[in-house]
Amino acid sequence: MSKILVEGEKNLFGTIPISGAKNSCLTLMPLSILSGETLTLENTPFLSDVDTMKDLLESLGCGVLYSKQEKKIKLKMNVEDKYTAEYKIVKKMRASILVLGPLLAKYGRAVVALPGGCAIGTRPVNLHLFGLEALGAKFSIDNGYIKGSVDGKLKGALIDFPSKSVGATANIIMASVLAKGTTEIKNAAQEPEIIDLCNCLKKMGCKIEGVGEQKVTIEGIDQLGKAKHQVIMDRIELGTYILAGAISNGEIKLTGGDLKPLKSFVDKLSSIGIDVTQDKSTICVKRIDENIKPVNIVTEPFPGFPTDLQAQIMALLSIADGVSSIEENIFENRFMHVPELIRMGANIEIKGRKALIKGVPGLKGVPVIATDLRASVSLVLAGLAAKGETVIDEIHHLDRGYEHLVSKLTACGAKIRRV
Ligand code: EPZ
Repeated sequence: MSKILVEGEKNLFGTIPISGAKNSCLTLMPLSILSGETLTLENTPFLSDVDTMKDLLESLGCGVLYSKQEKKIKLKMNVEDKYTAEYKIVKKMRASILVLGPLLAKYGRAVVALPGGCAIGTRPVNLHLFGLEALGAKFSIDNGYIKGSVDGKLKGALIDFPSKSVGATANIIMASVLAKGTTEIKNAAQEPEIIDLCNCLKKMGCKIEGVGEQKVTIEGIDQLGKAKHQVIMDRIELGTYILAGAISNGEIKLTGGDLKPLKSFVDKLSSIGIDVTQDKSTICVKRIDENIKPVNIVTEPFPGFPTDLQAQIMALLSIADGVSSIEENIFENRFMHVPELIRMGANIEIKGRKALIKGVPGLKGVPVIATDLRASVSLVLAGLAAKGETVIDEIHHLDRGYEHLVSKLTACGAKIRRV
């Protein structure tokens, strides 16, 4: 297994380009099932999760051309009526559940392996099934597979989600575009990746009102056309590198990003004493002065503080002057980075959903283990500030969500290498 070694206490200065959003790309790719026409995605990130989604769609009869250098993916269904998503692929990535809605809408059938849990929680799919059943799908769970069927076509319905789910909102939107009649979704997720999905669907001929709002209305149509769509920038990658500039006490410029979707995150940074400014599409980050002020954070669905930046900001708060708290409300087990940060000298106590972070003067580079995507990168951030060398193991988690992380940080003067 390869490892990442970080030599800490280097102030980072330089420019980092922000890539296309992993979570948008993974949500857009299954649209190729719905349309049968060519779907061209641009500004796509070079990530192992995208490779996994490519493998999954190819197993469902889709031709996928993924040119990593040109940051472009071309998808077109070649073989119809393949509707079984095998466990051997699904187990690698939970986002595989996003083919369920499209398969049911297109073929009236779907057999998708239950994605299973992951490090950050059990990750149930009940909200996905709740919405698809409202559209007329029937499900049974056999031998770890979700078997879905529709009598005729899906029918538009009113779906009022008991709680917000990004994936379930995406699945219902994708299923409803080919349903007969109108679908109204209440308590829809409002993440930018959902907006990106709707914007791409509109290019394919879909009629969607309330894009980005809690109430979304979709008019079913018979056939989707082809589309060329640029994937939005990755707000979580952007937030992660903003924190790299903050924690290393350097000054980093970020290109191709936009602070608008990170308002709650940037507001917290200014309370911490980090100056983040944007001029056109260039963002600049630096500390206002030496000390890092403590803050209290609660993760919430968009537009609240994003759970995907919780582990990363905890690394910064572990060296703040005072006591901070982070309440993780989205996932039930997203503190896997805490024991590793404690190994580096952080002083963190977990009480249920809340972590109390008592800032320490500095961290120490030691061997640590990555457990999930965002926990891994929080250890890289901690390593940038730590005294000495941090050795991070199990870094395949990083490759799922961070394109060229080592080269992007090296370009800013970080002493970081992969062995
Ligand atoms: C998406 O996951 C993202 N993944 C996650 O990013 C992100 O953390 C999450 O949204 C929240 O923003 C992709 O977009 C591929 P949810 P998703 O359904 O859709 C519970 C990363 O690091 N829930 O909004 O799976 C669920 O357990 C990843 O890039 C149910 O109970 O998230 C969680 O507690 C991690 N039943 C909460 O809702 C369901 O049927 C929010 O989950 C579905 C979800």
